[in-house]
Amino acid sequence: MKACWTVKKGRRAFLRAAAATVVLGGLPFAARAAAAAAGKMKIGIVGSGRIGGTLGRIWANAGHTVMFSSLDLEHDKALAASVGPNARAGTSREAAAFGDVILMAVPYHALPQVGKDLAGLIKGKVVIDACNPFPGRDGEVGVWARTKGAGLASAELLPGARIVRAFNAVGYARLPEAAQRQERYGMPIASDDAKAAAIASSLIRDVGYEPVLVGPLVMGRHLIPGTPLAGERGPEEIRRIAATLK
Ligand SMILES: NC(=O)c1ccc[n+]([C@@H]2O[C@H](COP(=O)([O-])OP(=O)(O)OC[C@H]3O[C@@H](n4cnc5c(N)ncnc54)[C@H](OP(=O)(O)O)[C@@H]3O)[C@@H](O)[C@H]2O)c1
Repeated sequence: MKACWTVKKGRRAFLRAAAATVVLGGLPFAARAAAAAAGKMKIGIVGSGRIGGTLGRIWANAGHTVMFSSLDLEHDKALAASVGPNARAGTSREAAAFGDVILMAVPYHALPQVGKDLAGLIKGKVVIDACNPFPGRDGEVGVWARTKGAGLASAELLPGARIVRAFNAVGYARLPEAAQRQERYGMPIASDDAKAAAIASSLIRDVGYEPVLVGPLVMGRHLIPGTPLAGERGPEEIRRIAATLK
């Protein structure tokens, strides 16, 4: 009971600090965040499949510039051409170098190699981690990541990246219509970095969801399909459910 209270108290303190950083975090960041929110970002997409391809298209249509990457450059060139002038294609290293923000959207079993390939390039960058470990699909690394917790596991595989877990448990087919829906659903996110979370949040709003910071990266273990936070629900309900988790 006491441990549970400590965890909850710790999370509340984190959330208060995160809010304070976003709201009162000093002019340079506020100015940068405002510029980023009002202006447009460069987004490197690592893994341009269902989720990466879909989000890249939405962000390009919202005025950001994206670079798609995967193991198939020809596919990415065709995808970029179909998206329009705000999209281009490159290798994963080029996408990582290009982006102010990186979307990581590869099968989890690819993440150890991707982390090595992109070492140095993603250090200090905001990385939105959509990747989910599934032991059946991802083998040993999937088992390890489930045990460690998806957020902390990604942080270990992508050292130095400012990770924000997001877009983990909503099907990619739901995303293109999200901005047009009457009801605005929440998007649970987890991060140890309040500034990174604020930057990711503006991109989440562009997709049509209201970001809900449920806590630090350790809470990323709840941001996978099949958990109480999976699926689409309103921001208040997400907060209520998150408060029951530890
Ligand atoms: N599908 C969803 O609705 C959904 C929702 C939330 C989260 N997720 C998670 O997001 C991740 C991607 O899922 P997805 O459904 O988008 O998969 P997907 O359609 O199979 O796309 C995976 C992408 O990753 C690329 N890739 C694989 N290994 C790579 C490597 N070593 N370096 C660079 N790129 C690599 C693939 O390239 P090639 O095609 O060239 O192999 C492909 O573009 C998974 O972890 C999944 O659990 C998926």
